[in-house]
Amino acid sequence: MNTVKTVRELRAAVARARGEGKRIGFVPTMGNLHSGHGALVTKAAQRADFVVASIFVNPLQFGANEDLDKYPRTLAADQERLLQAGCNLLFAPTVDEMYPDGMSVQTRVSVPQLSEGLCGASRPGHFEGVATVVSKLFNMVQPDLAVFGEKDFQQLAVIRAMVRDLNMPVQIIGEPTVRAEDGLALSSRNGYLTPEQRSAAPALYRTLQQIAAGIGRGQRDFAALVAEGQAQLAAAGFRPDYLEVRHAVSLRPAAIDDRDLVVIAAAYLGNTRLIDNLYLHVEDKTA
Ligand code: PAF
Repeated sequence: MNTVKTVRELRAAVARARGEGKRIGFVPTMGNLHSGHGALVTKAAQRADFVVASIFVNPLQFGANEDLDKYPRTLAADQERLLQAGCNLLFAPTVDEMYPDGMSVQTRVSVPQLSEGLCGASRPGHFEGVATVVSKLFNMVQPDLAVFGEKDFQQLAVIRAMVRDLNMPVQIIGEPTVRAEDGLALSSRNGYLTPEQRSAAPALYRTLQQIAAGIGRGQRDFAALVAEGQAQLAAAGFRPDYLEVRHAVSLRPAAIDDRDLVVIAAAYLGNTRLIDNLYLHVEDKTA
């Protein structure tokens, strides 16, 4: 696996692979990789002949008070993990390579509505930063397909909308969330948790499962289910940011006759903000 740092080298390597008739798969990341990222690369390797991954901690998607500076940079370990998972080429650009004229004059891509609620409400500008960097990376790599984790459910919805609305010729594939044995979704941010917080953390997924189970039994008073869930999270030591039941595609608040739902949450343990979600398809069993 080669590592390149410039767009020029990236384009040359991808052009060589394409010249050999290979289908190009792409996995964009911010590094500090865990086995959830490994699953994205494995999926890309199953669907494509040449897999490009990127590692770029994108300043444009971090708010002023967020963890940009302390975001872990672990290049050597990441390279090893990518290699094991079947990656062929790593693109690891600098901020100057990605934003040569600075970020203030950078053309932005914004996806209205889908970007606005949930994580977008507490992280203004976040999804514009994501959509902008992902569209730049798509133009640099020009992949046939790209794989994203379903753990970042809203991000995946935003990217699907961007690709559709801007007619980008790339197939977007969602990969199911990888979880620890106790249910906690793998995340680079889990590394910030103290041992006590780490043992409390699985309550987030348990809460989503409990709400989904209630819906599965035919309960449609989403507000009551969410209120119980909020209490459960607070009892486990979480400070919920949001906990909601939404329509899984449009992400608007769920209506009682919706069939495709997502229970979706962000909550703080100390200063660490964890997110998770649970998709569910319901049969018609209105209580
Ligand atoms: O999910 C991430 O790691 C990032 O948001 C992404 C998609 C790599 C864009 O910076």
